[in-house]
Formats: sequence, C-alpha cells, structure tokens
Amino acid sequence: MKQPPATNTTPHASPDASVQANNGWSVDSWRSKAVAHDVQYPDESALARALGQLRAFPPLVTSWEIERLKGHLADAEAGKRFLLQGGDCAEMLSECRPEAITNKLKILLQMSLVLVHGSKRPIIRVGRFAGQYAKPRSSETESGTLPTGEAAELPSYFGDAINGAAFTAADRTPDPARLVAAYQHSAMTLNFIRSLLDGGFADMHHPEYWDLSFFEHADLSPQSRDEYRRISQSLAEALKFMEAIGEARVDELTRVEFFTSHEALNLLYESAQTRKVPRRTRHYDLTTHLPWIGERTRGLDGAHVEFFRGIANPVGVKIGPKADPAEVVELTRVLNPANEPGKLVLIVRMGAHRIAEALPRVVEAVAGAGRRGLWVSDPMHGNGIVTPTGIKTRSFSSIAAELSGAFDAFDALGTTRRDGEEVPVAQLGGVHFELTGEDVTECTGGASGVTEAGLADRYDSLCDPRLNYQQSLELALILARRLSDTSRA
Ligand code: PEP
Ligand code: CO
Repeated sequence: MKQPPATNTTPHASPDASVQANNGWSVDSWRSKAVAHDVQYPDESALARALGQLRAFPPLVTSWEIERLKGHLADAEAGKRFLLQGGDCAEMLSECRPEAITNKLKILLQMSLVLVHGSKRPIIRVGRFAGQYAKPRSSETESGTLPTGEAAELPSYFGDAINGAAFTAADRTPDPARLVAAYQHSAMTLNFIRSLLDGGFADMHHPEYWDLSFFEHADLSPQSRDEYRRISQSLAEALKFMEAIGEARVDELTRVEFFTSHEALNLLYESAQTRKVPRRTRHYDLTTHLPWIGERTRGLDGAHVEFFRGIANPVGVKIGPKADPAEVVELTRVLNPANEPGKLVLIVRMGAHRIAEALPRVVEAVAGAGRRGLWVSDPMHGNGIVTPTGIKTRSFSSIAAELSGAFDAFDALGTTRRDGEEVPVAQLGGVHFELTGEDVTECTGGASGVTEAGLADRYDSLCDPRLNYQQSLELALILARRLSDTSRA
C-alpha cells in the first residue's frame, strides 16, 4: 500500500516480554513494530507514571456494550441497520462542557431520526467523542511566531491528549499528564451522556425536546425546518400508533443508545486500557467501543495494525483513494482473521472526484475475496481544500457529491446470488461525518450559505473543518431521501 511517508516511526522496547499465544499477539506486541506518527516524550518517568495510572483506572466502556455494538454492526452489514458516526475532528479538553455535549447529542439524534424515517431501519449512533483527543498531522513540525514575536519551528499540535495548541515551546512539548487528562475528560463526557440518556433526554416520543436551542436560530432554512418537523411529527405519531397496537419491535426502535469511537492513534494510551475481562477470553480496548485506524497509520507492517489485530472490539479502518485493493483485502484478513460479521468497519474517504474510479476496485476486491466488513462513507477527508487566504475548508457540495457518488458506486456493482437469494454485491451501511452541534463557519455552502469570506466568523476547529448543525441536518435530509429511494427499490 502506498502510504504517505510516516513523519515519525520508532520501535518501542517492550516492557513485557511475555508474548502470549494468538499468533504472537500481546497487549505489547505492537512495540516491536514501527509506530507511525509516534510521539517523543522527553520525560520518561512522567510517561511511566501516567501509563501506570491509566492501567489502574477503571474502564471507560464495557465488553458487553462493545459486543452489543458488534451485533448491531453485523446487522448493518446485512442491510438491517445503518450506522451514523459523527463528531469533532479533534475534541478539545476545554469543550468538555454541558452545552457543547448536549448540542452534539442533539444534532446526532436529529440526524438519526431523519435517517430512521428515510431508511426504515434502526440507526446505530456512534459519536466521535469521549476520546477523540489525538491527531495525526501531515507535518511533524510547524513554523510560526512565538508570543515574543520571534519566528520559530515547533512540533505540530497533535491533539489535546498529546500537547497544547498554543504556539509556545511549553505547550507544544508532549506531556504525558495530558493522556491522563484525556482519559478523565472522556470519563466526564461519557458520564454526562449516560446520565442524559438514562434520564430520558433522548425520548423518541418527544423529539421536540431535542431541538429548542437549534430551532430558535432564525437562520435555519425554512425548507429544512419544515421537512424536519414533518418527519419528527410523523415518527412520533407512528410510534404512538405502534404502541397502541402492542407492536413488540417498538422497544427496539425507541431505545436510544450511543456508542463512542475515536482514532486510536496513541497506542500507549490504548494499550494501557486494554485488558481481559472476567468470563471473556479475549482482550478488549476499554477506552472506546469502536476504535479506528487512520489512513496514515494503517500500514500492514506497522504497530497500529499489529495492536488492533488482537483485540475483540469492532475496529474501523480508513481507506483513501490511493489504497491498493490487494492490500485492503490483506487488511481485512489481518484485522478480522475469523471473518466475523460486525468486526470490521471499512471507512472509505476518496474525495468527490475520485470515488467513482477508486471505490469499485476496492469493494470488488474485498467482496471477491469473500471478506466481510461494513462499508461506510466518510465524505469529509477526501474533500479538504485550502482557501487563497490559507483557511482549511470543505464545500458542502463536494461532501454531498461524494456521498451520492458512494451510493452510485455500490449500486453499479449490481447483485449476486447468495444462498439462493439475489443480494447486492456489497452495500453502503453507514456514514462518518465531522460535525458539531454549534453554529460554526468551517465548511462552505449548503442552505446555511457560509461563504469563503465568512469562514473566519466562527472557525473553532483546531484541525479539520466540521459541518455546522444546519449543514449536518441538511446532509441528513439528503441522505434520508437517498436511503428512502434505496429502501423502495
Ligand atoms: C480524521 O478522521 O480526522 C482523519 C485524520 O482521517 P483520515 O485518517 O481518513 O485522514
Ligand atoms: Co479530521
């Protein structure tokens, strides 16, 4: 596979020589491999202290939640559910605030409601949250101006779990205490989310409770507002009707669950919370339900693939336009050796202009090899552009075009006979978005009318540009229309 050159690859000496069975896999076997996007910690004893704490802390999620998600993902592979995965590109520790968290939940809930309506399938809600604190960067260092006015070259910002965003030597030095802070902020976020859900915040009977703060905004397009209102009212009515006639599946449809996910970039962090739990035979990464491997770290010989081949969680892997189909097939073998349904999430991020040419090759190779995986479209990461004034953005139209191109590419693969039935060769089972519940101006276009000139108005992301709440809802409406066409076909 042609990988972008890793900016920093170092083998780590293993502190635990007792490599277990499982084809040489252990919680620490990744340490003998090259670690793409590795972090150099200047203070080794501080690092050892932080990892000791992380190893001792209770898990953030449980193995039965992870297994439940795996079951849902297996259903999505079979076309019986649809995955909605979304959240910030990079979470910030300072954004661990009730308003920011509830707004993120609300937009994901609203989107999922629209998708339930369109797809007529239960939606699996997975946040890019409660742990999305470590980022790969295309360049290891960055030049800039220090607060003193001097020019300097400093390490890039690698996410709040690693270093600080401010352009000072102190902030940009990797600090292991941040790994502990990231764990703690993930725990606080999750605690709040779990309490909200338990307390009925997401009651499907009352979707109107989720939208107050959004709908007070005057600038939501009247069409989107009306369409959403119509959908939420008709769903609430349908629900009451089904309950009135005693439909058993209502409980399943109305149960609002959220799962967590993040790019599992920092293997020191991930492995410190990876353990065997009572009455289970395998190891679980208990920092999140669904860790994923990024486009820059999915090398077959690298530490990330080594680590993730041995854990029981479902694992995501990003696939860019230059991916070699044969190597993607090999990834499906290594990351899902038992070819378990629900185990592997293949997140394609090709770019609107590449999808028609790049996606079918990969999907056909995987399907042709009889390998399982849930195909998910990330229409964000192949569509980044930089404006003439140097602002990173993405246009709503290119995002919508990639999404539609992904559906077209799967449709064009046609059907095949399996177990006496005519089934699609492969199908799109989910989407992966960078979005926020806030009214930011980071992506251009959509009915919200964010222009290039207006990007600076409220650009809060420290990494990639996110869809704001209006753009997110608009995209969900477009997606729902497409899913509803598919479900009728
Ligand atoms: C991301 O999801 O923020 C990311 C860096 O994606 P990719 O690995 O696909 O570039
Ligand atoms: Co991103």
